[in-house]
Amino acid sequence: MSLNKVPLIQIFASQQAQTLRDKLCATLRQLIVSGTLPQGERLPSSRLMAADLSLSRVTVEAAYTQLESEGYLVRNIGKGTFVAIALEPPRRVRKMAQPAPLALSSRGKKIVATGGCRDPLYPQAFAAGSPDLRVFPHDIWRRLTAQRLRSPETVMGYGDPQGLPELRQAVARYLAQSRGVRCAAEQVIILTSSQQALQMLAMLLCDVGEKICLEEPGYSGAFNAFVSAGAEISGLELDDRGAKIPDTGRAKLIYLTPSHQYPTGVTMSLSRRLQWLAYANKHDSWLIEDDYDSEFYYDEQPMPALQGLDDNGRVLYLGTFSKALFPSLRLAYLVVPPALVEPFCRMRSVMDGHSAQLMQAVTADFIIHGHFQAHLRLMRKLYASRRNLLLTQLAEKLGDRLRPQSHSGGLQLTVTLPGGGEERLTRAALNAGLILPRLSPLYQGAVREEGWLLGFSALQRAEIINAVDKLARLF
Ligand SMILES: Cc1ncc(COP(=O)(O)O)c(C=O)c1O
Repeated sequence: MSLNKVPLIQIFASQQAQTLRDKLCATLRQLIVSGTLPQGERLPSSRLMAADLSLSRVTVEAAYTQLESEGYLVRNIGKGTFVAIALEPPRRVRKMAQPAPLALSSRGKKIVATGGCRDPLYPQAFAAGSPDLRVFPHDIWRRLTAQRLRSPETVMGYGDPQGLPELRQAVARYLAQSRGVRCAAEQVIILTSSQQALQMLAMLLCDVGEKICLEEPGYSGAFNAFVSAGAEISGLELDDRGAKIPDTGRAKLIYLTPSHQYPTGVTMSLSRRLQWLAYANKHDSWLIEDDYDSEFYYDEQPMPALQGLDDNGRVLYLGTFSKALFPSLRLAYLVVPPALVEPFCRMRSVMDGHSAQLMQAVTADFIIHGHFQAHLRLMRKLYASRRNLLLTQLAEKLGDRLRPQSHSGGLQLTVTLPGGGEERLTRAALNAGLILPRLSPLYQGAVREEGWLLGFSALQRAEIINAVDKLARLF
């Protein structure tokens, strides 16, 4: 079949690639692989193809050149561009093969069944947990990166699975000063994300079928990591002092967000913290302290970390640069007792080796030269004003239809919906271009509160006002 007989424009329009060149490459690959364009078929000249698809000729030339380098096309000066490869069965419309049943392991099936967790690729009202990337000090970051690249060979080799020593040193100092964490740089492990840390913790410390406790409602990323490791998950009830100690049974791992409970925002009281440490000592358990957004407090400084109260090496402290800097940096840190450092490093070397050296080096410089603290100070001010605006807008336009929860910090405001309708309204909002991250799926048990986690930090003033207007119209 020749190219003018296939709905080229539709296939081109359906491609997900980011650039026009990649979209055209994907279109032509699809047509060649499906046998629609057989070996020897002549493609239209770049001028004609460009006119058909309303592209520039440069774009078409770039796509043809790319596909020639991949072996799909061959170009003959003066003759034209031809399909180079024949795919089986040749020249016939290929019968769709029956897909083989997916032979996933039982672990694989559990992982897929979690549904995974994906964050929106671009900030959008009211996606939760995104920092405002528009106000990041890009110039400083660019300068520090350029400085490091003056001696590129120092950041181009393999690195320490535990993380770049300068960054570990900088993180240890920052955590001691800002969060009361007691650790040496030798106890800090640099990882790609909190998510990677949670998965490694579950796999290293917990056998299949062992019990892990999680706050309820709680962070779905943690839930997914623990389920993937084959753990048996048990929910922890919450009250106004944080996660309650279970009456019965021993859990090997307990996941907690003491500074700012995810998603309710409750701060764990001192007495509850001491009870958890006593529980961990008694049962030989590990407490994971996920301090995911404690940098963002708006009213008063948060309580120091639980880790700082621990004299027996029971707390595994976890933090991320995804919110304090930017998510694509893919850097987080874990503080563990000295005896756990080597097992973690070995596991990291089995997984993916280490995090990118250049980004670790630039992050270390950013902290050491004072830019990190300065950036956080500015973001706290900015995000506090956005939180205040969101609160007043909601009160003004939605009255008591939404009930804001504790909101002393963080990048999102959790609201409950006393009148219900979470699922229906979320669907309607999506049609109106609004993302409303739902509260009820963060529960595992049957008793669920309905509501949303409304991200505000990445939204400018007009965007917040506009989004609340849209939300109000849905009711
Ligand atoms: C409780 C909690 N921990 C960790 C993270 C994410 O951190 P990372 O991007 O490092 O996986 C999030 C992100 O929303 C979170 O809500």
